Amino acid sequence: MLVVALDPPVREKGRRKTSLLVEELDKYVSGYKIGLPFLIKHGRRGIRELRKSTEKPIIVDLKLADIGDVMAEVLRHLARLGVDAVIAHAFTGYTGALEDLSKASMATGVGLIIVVSMSHRGSEEYIDRHVDEFLELAARIRAKGVVAPATRPRVIRHVREVLGDTVEIYSPGIGIQGAEPGSALCAGANYEIVGRLITRSGNPGETARAIREMQLERWLKC
Ligand code: C5P
Repeated sequence: MLVVALDPPVREKGRRKTSLLVEELDKYVSGYKIGLPFLIKHGRRGIRELRKSTEKPIIVDLKLADIGDVMAEVLRHLARLGVDAVIAHAFTGYTGALEDLSKASMATGVGLIIVVSMSHRGSEEYIDRHVDEFLELAARIRAKGVVAPATRPRVIRHVREVLGDTVEIYSPGIGIQGAEPGSALCAGANYEIVGRLITRSGNPGETARAIREMQLERWLKC
């Protein structure tokens, strides 16, 4: 239900090490998402340390959008570091792009999560005009999941309507971006991705626990 986005800020003075943060969070969360801020700051060693700190799934959010060979190679590197899933854009298309990535995914067991919409307003300018094509593509490559924004629950409902239970829906946008804990779950998401609300709070473990409680309360009413 709750995936924590570990995006370290540039200035981290006085903040907990990732392993200590994970120790506080682990019993409340379903997994972790790391992206470019984490990789630039902590590199491959950071991923290895995170892998040692938790048995929960690690999702690497690179929002891959390259030619197939390059994306497949990135995925193979990540497989060797023990990650569970990688996030890729859909707009690169199937032939010569997601086709190769999905073959690498099947060969390595690293799941694919496809971005079909984004949480910022600009997503409506281009990406959202193609949501149905992206969903078709996600189904074609048997993606493990798709990313759809908690800030626009109607998109989540649409994804669920079109794809049924064949994919997991991951929804960022809770907290600092405005959506309330539990709101995306009510719209049909499987997981809510929460970053700064947890990682920048004075007591991340307690905040994660409280968010779980809010999710559950809202879930019971929807
Ligand atoms: O700190 P916050 O909870 O806003 O973090 C949301 C996380 O989800 C960030 O890591 C961001 O990169 C990611 N994300 C997003 N919108 C998307 C896809 C990913 O906010 N459509």
